[in-house]
Amino acid sequence: MAIDGVLVDPERAVVSVYDRGFLYGDSIFETIRTYAGEPFELEAHLERLAWSAERVGLTLPLGPAALAEETRRLLAEIRARGASGEHTIRIMVTRGEGPMGLDPTPAVSARRVVFLEPMKGPPPEAYLDGVSVITVTTYRPSDAARGAKVGNYLESILAIREARAAGAHEALIVDTRGVVLEGTTSNVLAIKGGLLLTPPATLTILPGITRKLVLAAAPDAGLVAREVVLTTADLLAADELLLTSTIREVLPVVRVDGTPIGSGKPGPKTRTLHAAFRARAGLEPPHSP
Ligand SMILES: Cc1ncc(COP(=O)(O)O)c(C=O)c1O
Repeated sequence: MAIDGVLVDPERAVVSVYDRGFLYGDSIFETIRTYAGEPFELEAHLERLAWSAERVGLTLPLGPAALAEETRRLLAEIRARGASGEHTIRIMVTRGEGPMGLDPTPAVSARRVVFLEPMKGPPPEAYLDGVSVITVTTYRPSDAARGAKVGNYLESILAIREARAAGAHEALIVDTRGVVLEGTTSNVLAIKGGLLLTPPATLTILPGITRKLVLAAAPDAGLVAREVVLTTADLLAADELLLTSTIREVLPVVRVDGTPIGSGKPGPKTRTLHAAFRARAGLEPPHSP
């Protein structure tokens, strides 16, 4: 873990209780993973971090290029200290310390904390058997930040709490008009015939980097990608359903609110799409059933 660019032991890492990330969730972040030790799509993640910063009026302590260099340096440093295998990298930037009170103007020095954790994705069974999700209709307080990846995940925390209580892997957020937005930490895509459908980025969703890469890989899997407004009924009527995120890549969904999707088993097109995504990233095909 590193604070403001300096590696520290996690048990010694200290941030002020006056930090606005702690006080108000006044922060933004990115979660990145490595493949063969290299951070995947690092520049795209840092561009999105800059985009999030702009949306919440936070001045990044370092520009994207300097943050990329720092991230690579930190990875090299932990390896020099004996770390091995793949890592998840969470880059979190808070608005920094300020006096109690919502007004952000006194906080002038953004703080960055980089978590470098061993990579832990879903288990192979999740890909082979598929996962269940529930839908949760909720109001999103973060709408004001128009899709920025802000540290305040309260509605998603409450939604994932419901999902876990129902034994589901993920909760899909549905807005108060009945429009499906995304998962708590994932984007959702449906396959219907030859179409790969997903909610448009113009909704208040996080425009996932994996979502974008998977949409681009659609033709490799014989699918035509379309961004369309989807309701829960559209999800239930899909042939196949899947989640995308940095950590999950492409994960088949086999149940929504207890109702099986398609055959109730991971579909062949999802598997082909996952392989196409991995091929484009220069990776081996996913686990075979
Ligand atoms: C709300 C939300 N949507 C979607 C995603 C997936 O984005 P990406 O593919 O860039 O990891 C995430 C990732 O954490 C997320 O938090």
